[in-house]
Amino acid sequence: MHDSKPTPPGGVAGRTALVVGGGRGLGRAVAIALAESGASVLAVARSPQPLLELRDLARARRLPLRVARGDAGRVVSVRAWLRAAGAGDRAPDILVIAAGDYWEGPLGRLTVERWESLVRSNTTIPLAILQEALPLMRRRRYGRILLFGVAGGETPRAAARAHGYRAAKVALLTLARSVAHEEAPYGITVNAILPGIIRPAFSGKQSDLVRRIPAGRLGSPREVARAALFLLAEESGYITGAALPVAGGYLL
Ligand SMILES: NC(=O)c1ccc[n+]([C@@H]2O[C@H](COP(=O)([O-])OP(=O)(O)OC[C@H]3O[C@@H](n4cnc5c(N)ncnc54)[C@H](OP(=O)(O)O)[C@@H]3O)[C@@H](O)[C@H]2O)c1
Repeated sequence: MHDSKPTPPGGVAGRTALVVGGGRGLGRAVAIALAESGASVLAVARSPQPLLELRDLARARRLPLRVARGDAGRVVSVRAWLRAAGAGDRAPDILVIAAGDYWEGPLGRLTVERWESLVRSNTTIPLAILQEALPLMRRRRYGRILLFGVAGGETPRAAARAHGYRAAKVALLTLARSVAHEEAPYGITVNAILPGIIRPAFSGKQSDLVRRIPAGRLGSPREVARAALFLLAEESGYITGAALPVAGGYLL
């Protein structure tokens, strides 16, 4: 049986994108990669300095990348970003949520405040952003959403010293799959990247870390961005609910 409608080709060129948590780390790498590939990007975060550096880099390289400051925990900021990243009341075509705090330590030091803060940053804030973005994307019947879990985070597993962080990431992935299921009829995909240990975020003793990674090295933000471009492409529209490890075999 032949489908009479040809699948439109397309990556991310010409698309609009909002990258929440685009000031540094993996979000920054994804924002740059999107802009290099022709998407018009708004990268947002709280701290001014990394954003100013990113803005200068974009200007120097003539990339279609703007920056804005704000806290993703404030719904007014999120609404303003969505408007600014899309066009008027249109949703951006692409939404990347890379913000997500990390904390590790023994269970006894995981205070309720720390637990709540990890859950807020890694689960509640992404949920609140999705709730703002999805009705707009539904209207357009198009959306490419990318979230960030953690290597090994497809299933619950023991996580020495990272109880709260990993619990929040497993919850995020469960949420992502549910939303992917609900939004598929509207042309919206929801996928997650599960990063392993990516430099330079981990400043610990690298030889100890590397010994635990089958690939024998840390990953690079660029490698994560490569996977992001794949999942965010127009032509990846049949891929949804996926959790893609970018981890060099770590925690498989
Ligand atoms: N890097 C890794 O090796 C690794 C491994 C596994 C999973 N991950 C996951 O991948 C994602 C990205 O990690 P990363 O290492 O790139 O993180 P990162 O270096 O901490 O960067 C996070 C970005 O999000 C911004 N951000 C945080 N909270 C925010 C808020 N409330 N409002 C607006 N912006 C906010 C931060 O800037 P401000 O603080 O200035 O706002 C920063 O730009 C996270 O979800 C992380 O859990 C990373």
